[in-house]
Amino acid sequence: MTANVEETLVLIKPDGVARNLIGEILARIEKKGYQLVDVKLFEPSRALLAAHYEEHEGKPFYEPLIEFMESGPVFAARVAGNRVIEGWRSLAGTTDPTTAAPGTIRGDLGRDWGLKVQQNLVHGSDSPESAARELALWFD
Ligand code: TYD
Ligand code: MG
Repeated sequence: MTANVEETLVLIKPDGVARNLIGEILARIEKKGYQLVDVKLFEPSRALLAAHYEEHEGKPFYEPLIEFMESGPVFAARVAGNRVIEGWRSLAGTTDPTTAAPGTIRGDLGRDWGLKVQQNLVHGSDSPESAARELALWFD
């Protein structure tokens, strides 16, 4: 296999920051062997969140999702590594934290809180095109 060094956007969502899980989540990224290239902690604007989640506009969970993402600080990281886009989504686990596999971040640390939106701790870009678009939004 030839090297395929990529960068991806990792977000620790407001639930992860509020629950003091930044260190736990970054430790998993570092132990996997991925590299933190740049990080920041801030409250994203609605305009940034709308651009980030534009593919979901109009879906029933869209408004609750934006409101949740606006509810507190978000930790954003530019993370690099060979096949990191796929690898980070594998570390994160599937979208629904109730059924995400044990061993994953969402599976180990997340659950359904009975709210209108999945509070699933983290985000990861889902393709090279998404990663480029999202990194430009969050870091440029
Ligand atoms: P999506 O991009 O499908 O999931 P992922 O974060 O795994 O790439 O959806 C974006 C976010 O929207 C997801 O992390 C949580 C929220 N969401 C819901 O609250 N309910 C849903 O049914 C879906 C599909 C997503
Ligand atoms: Mg997604």
